[in-house]
Amino acid sequence: MSRLNQFFGSSIGKKFVMAITGILLIFFLIVHLINNLMLFGGPEFFNENVMRLDSIKPLIRVVEVVLALIFLYHIYRGIKLWFENKKANPDKYAINGGKENSTLYSRTMFITGILILVFLVIHLYTLWTKFNFGMEGSEDYFAVIKDLFKNPFWSAFYLVIMIFIGFHINHAFQSSFQSFGWSHKKYTPLVKKIGTLLAIVFAIGFASIPIYFYLISLGGQG
Ligand code: HEM
Repeated sequence: MSRLNQFFGSSIGKKFVMAITGILLIFFLIVHLINNLMLFGGPEFFNENVMRLDSIKPLIRVVEVVLALIFLYHIYRGIKLWFENKKANPDKYAINGGKENSTLYSRTMFITGILILVFLVIHLYTLWTKFNFGMEGSEDYFAVIKDLFKNPFWSAFYLVIMIFIGFHINHAFQSSFQSFGWSHKKYTPLVKKIGTLLAIVFAIGFASIPIYFYLISLGGQG
């Protein structure tokens, strides 16, 4: 037990927990993206799917609490690790290394992380609360999203944040493999490519939604 405590208290252990929570969040994002892409199936299809999920609401609530804990822990650890590394290693590579031995993606992990946190607070306030407590008898969930992205400010905000999410995941994915101690001459470049592909799929996949709804609102269908 004390060995376990020692491990999780060590710098490697902390990075390990960051990596595990990060990978779990990537799984959440895959499911979330699939659910959101159902918007392209039209109002009936999307609303039916949201209502189908309503029948397993208690389970969803449990998943949401676990998810919130994972998010909070990941954010707390990320901020703490960044400050610890900055203090211990102001010049050398840590999380935020010098230009020579780090990429733009790794140097911006802290700032993209904070921006995603700000996004999450706003996102949950605007969409999650509306879906769960603000429907007032209506079952048109599709219209909530359509109304939000009619507004050029919200569409642009989501678009910019999705680029930062792409940046964050591009580095996070390969970095989590390093934290697990999995580094290989042949496979590490492949892991990097998979991370970049995931980042592009998330950024384009999520961004396609505000772009689509904004464009149809311009065409007078909003
Ligand atoms: C265009 C992009 C996105 C749209 C349209 C969207 C839409 C939604 C909607 C409608 C909900 C409420 C679902 C419900 O309660 O039934 C929700 C919840 C949530 N979203 Fe998003 N989302 C987007 C991107 C993201 C991204 C990039 C993240 C993470 C960085 C994220 C994180 C969450 C979380 C944590 C919840 C609460 C858990 C849940 O209800 O599933 N979302 N989102």
